[in-house]
Amino acid sequence: INYFFQGIVRCQFYFHKIRLHVESPETLVSAVQGSNATLPCHYRYEPALSAPRKTRVKWFWQPVSGEGQERDVMVAIGTRHRSYGDFKGRVRLRRSAPGDASLVINPLQSDDTGRYRCEIIDGLEDESVTVQLKFRGVVFPYHSSRGRYLMNFHEAKEACEKQDAHLATFEQLYASWDEGLDWCNAGWLMDGTAQYPVVEPREACGGTELAPGVRSYGVRDKSLDRFDAFCFTSSIRGEVYFLQHHFKLNFTEAVEACQSDGGRIAKVGQLYAAWRFVGLDQCDAGWLADGSVRYPIIQPRMNCGTSEPGVRSFGFPPKHLKHGVFCYKVRW
Ligand SMILES: *[C@@H]1O[C@H](CO)[C@@H](O)[C@H](O)[C@H]1NC(C)=O
Ligand SMILES: *[C@@H]1O[C@H](CO)[C@@H](O)[C@H](O)[C@H]1NC(C)=O
Repeated sequence: INYFFQGIVRCQFYFHKIRLHVESPETLVSAVQGSNATLPCHYRYEPALSAPRKTRVKWFWQPVSGEGQERDVMVAIGTRHRSYGDFKGRVRLRRSAPGDASLVINPLQSDDTGRYRCEIIDGLEDESVTVQLKFRGVVFPYHSSRGRYLMNFHEAKEACEKQDAHLATFEQLYASWDEGLDWCNAGWLMDGTAQYPVVEPREACGGTELAPGVRSYGVRDKSLDRFDAFCFTSSIRGEVYFLQHHFKLNFTEAVEACQSDGGRIAKVGQLYAAWRFVGLDQCDAGWLADGSVRYPIIQPRMNCGTSEPGVRSFGFPPKHLKHGVFCYKVRW
């Protein structure tokens, strides 16, 4: 039986008049890829037990879309535990107090998001709670340096990975639309669909008949159909900065200048993450590793692009032109 009670999900069952409660104070956990996450799950008996019982804790995982079977993450009986598949060696129970069956995942990998179910098994019956894990991140549209609508699914996936990102899921694009992402060019998503988010319906963007929302072309042919991409980047482990330099640089010089400074020329995903999570605001256009020129704005102001915060792009200019450069350094 599930009770939703003051934000706490409670499950309980009756077992020789002793009730087992399984609950989670936090059913949505957001974390940063590459760091760690703790998914809370606690169980207790009512009335309290006089002698400890043998309880089995089992965690399952399922993609957020709800498609596909639940997969085993780990199982623990007493101090013995076992983890499975991709989770092997990366998960443990927190066990910070009696009844603490919280799952610690360290480090988080890019495909760890989804629904986690904590099941406590005692005797013949069991109770569980579900905790959703999502990544804090930012979605950005990306197109090939050769032009628009030129990438098939596989090329789009690779293009995002080259920018230190992944193809976005529908949930991630939807959340970005909800936060105001408006983009008129359809891009591939992880599930093989092509979609685009519209906040302000307009003629030039699918017409004014349709309501605002994420518009879909549906599932497309992964080899034959060509679109742009929506990439998702979750975090940066390093620092992105605009290189202070005496003069402007062509692309070759920009790559070398970052190396001389002990870093590397930044990737598009790293610039977006720095803009979104560190508040990088720089009204100077700079080269990036893919040969594009962009700059990040938090506080819109005169002569600095449009009225909304965002990462502005000058596309892919000829590489002999002179600009600034954004570099990236790993922080340990
Ligand atoms: C887990 O992440 C937190 C910050 O979210 C950090 O303080 C802690 O050191 C990390 N623990 C491990 C074992 O990496
Ligand atoms: C950039 O300038 C250097 C000279 O400083 C030159 O050798 C190089 O070919 C130029 N690169 C491009 C892409 O124009």
